[in-house]
Amino acid sequence: MTPTNETKAMDELPLRSTAEFSQDLVEEVNKLGGEWQEEDPNAIGRTMFDLPHSTDDSLTILLPDKNREFVPSQALLRIKSKDGRVYMAVVVAGPFAEPDGLRGDTNLVVTTTVRGGIFMPPYHCRCQVELMGEEINGQLLPPRFRPLPNSPVFSLSSTETEEVLKAAGDIRLGLAAGHDRIEVGIPADKKSVLPRHTGIFGTTGGGKSTTVANLIAEAQRNNFAVIVLDVEGEYTRLNERTTDPVMLAGLEGRGLQPHGVANTSVYHLIGRDTANPDHPDLHSFSLKFYTLSPYALVELAELSEAQDTRFWKAYNLTKTLLRRLEIFPRKAVLNKDEEILINLDEFEVGYPLMTLNHLYDVVLACTATVDKGELPQPVSPDFKNEQTREAIKVLMNEQAATLEKSIPSWRALQGKLGRLRRPNVFDNPQAQALNYSRLIKPGHVSLIDLSDTNSPVINNLVISDILRGVQNRQDEYYQEYEKGSREALPKVMIIIEEAHEFLSEERISAMPFLFEQVARIAKRGRKRWLSLVFVTQLPQHLPRQLFGLINNYILHKINDEQTLGRLQKVISGVDESLWKRMPGLAPGQAVVSLTSMTRPLLTSIDPAPCKLRMID
Ligand SMILES: Nc1ncnc2c1ncn2[C@@H]1O[C@H](COP(=O)(O)OP(=O)(O)O)[C@@H](O)[C@H]1O
Ligand SMILES: [Mg+2]
Repeated sequence: MTPTNETKAMDELPLRSTAEFSQDLVEEVNKLGGEWQEEDPNAIGRTMFDLPHSTDDSLTILLPDKNREFVPSQALLRIKSKDGRVYMAVVVAGPFAEPDGLRGDTNLVVTTTVRGGIFMPPYHCRCQVELMGEEINGQLLPPRFRPLPNSPVFSLSSTETEEVLKAAGDIRLGLAAGHDRIEVGIPADKKSVLPRHTGIFGTTGGGKSTTVANLIAEAQRNNFAVIVLDVEGEYTRLNERTTDPVMLAGLEGRGLQPHGVANTSVYHLIGRDTANPDHPDLHSFSLKFYTLSPYALVELAELSEAQDTRFWKAYNLTKTLLRRLEIFPRKAVLNKDEEILINLDEFEVGYPLMTLNHLYDVVLACTATVDKGELPQPVSPDFKNEQTREAIKVLMNEQAATLEKSIPSWRALQGKLGRLRRPNVFDNPQAQALNYSRLIKPGHVSLIDLSDTNSPVINNLVISDILRGVQNRQDEYYQEYEKGSREALPKVMIIIEEAHEFLSEERISAMPFLFEQVARIAKRGRKRWLSLVFVTQLPQHLPRQLFGLINNYILHKINDEQTLGRLQKVISGVDESLWKRMPGLAPGQAVVSLTSMTRPLLTSIDPAPCKLRMID
């Protein structure tokens, strides 16, 4: 300590010589049992006494300033409590510097500092840790007690930290913040992780798309079949390497190479544009109306009750008509087709070979019949000939009395179906429906480009159709696998961008069927290696029930307090200190919480090696 006036004054007192004083001190120390030995020379600090406001999982550690390098935010520490128990803890606040024996804001300290004096009292560090658990036989179990005061604290080596955190995985996401080069990744072959589904949330600009690009690239490298429902067409250039200077610099800093993603295909709806017409493997596809469950259609088209009743009437009349016209069941394969109808589950699929135009024509005919007008010219090519038009007329005559009245409701239904018809994506003979065997081919990335549909309803029908198609094909594979005729199941990852537009809390009560479909896939996913990834900037709009199906989270910056509060209620396992950091995360930083990890980790996500299409 720099001498003060007080110590100078003491110097002037008649004291014994320093030699005499030292001698006395040694004798005194020996009387008390000799010089104090740190029990463990590797201890970096000690636990402090508790205070009235101490809480269960939180603890204060005191350490000499020279050891501050061991306690950066998120560092792991081992506490060997004096009662023999061993605890693992993580630094959640600090290290703070505090002068020995003085308060940091004491007059003496403040005044000398502002008056330009140099008064640097010796000081130590204090940091706050959260108890992760008690180490028992190499396992980390929930702590029943807390470390006693004055227990020695030790820091963990990088290797040990890696082992404790269980952060690594073949699908690399980035590096853990606060640690030296600890990789954060998702284990690719553990059924307990990805097939228990993932949510990637954060405000616009937080880094979601970059994370998704990494996830796609890494999942592909690990031989996943990846299907991306790319609402904005952002991922249609993933086959190219990034040219973004920020990403390139970031990659270099981590010793990573820029690269395009291998084996990508871009699919866009027939008649709609793609965001990347130059993609080397570009396909257009159409939707088959009959692969959609009529229940899904009713929900996604948001039919009112009056429209709903009319929809089912028309749907059933269309079935009758198709039977009479021998469109289905077909005469040549009558027995087989009848068999199909017996086993038909309309919660899964629609009536075989029914087109949207068939249904639309019947709705037109019903409207005209209720309106007592002439039957209009059918739009379906199948219904154009004289014989079919006669069949429609007969059917309408039979049914006229049973049709619900109210022409406006019929017109409204006609309008809604008309809107689905207009883009000409249903049953379009110029394009095939999606080939699900191709979509779930290992190592293949299918980018479903929905950027030009301009219709959330159509997007949602596509998503619903793909979920069903992939699930059915994977089910078939699974049965073969069970029987032993298939070696392994392809690992499938389905990424749903703008997930709040597909499943929203607001509409969920009106969409029990759709949610049921997602829930069914989610629940079966584990056995069948199907993993769903929901990406959204509006997680607060996702239905609460969905969170019950998601077990992994990548949380980018979220600054809306209400959203945070809501998420905090539904996402377990992320501790208070990490929630607090969420509003301040930089682009590319995220809290990663995976079922494989010991605790969630603040992660600095890798820059994307591949090209993301800029969208505004
Ligand atoms: N992991 C990252 N590393 C470096 N920069 C990033 C990272 N993630 C995001 N960024 C920066 O933030 C911007 C927005 O990221 P983006 O992934 O498009 O966010 P979001 O999809 O959430 O809107 C990027 O253009 C980039 O500049
Ligand atoms: Mg984005």
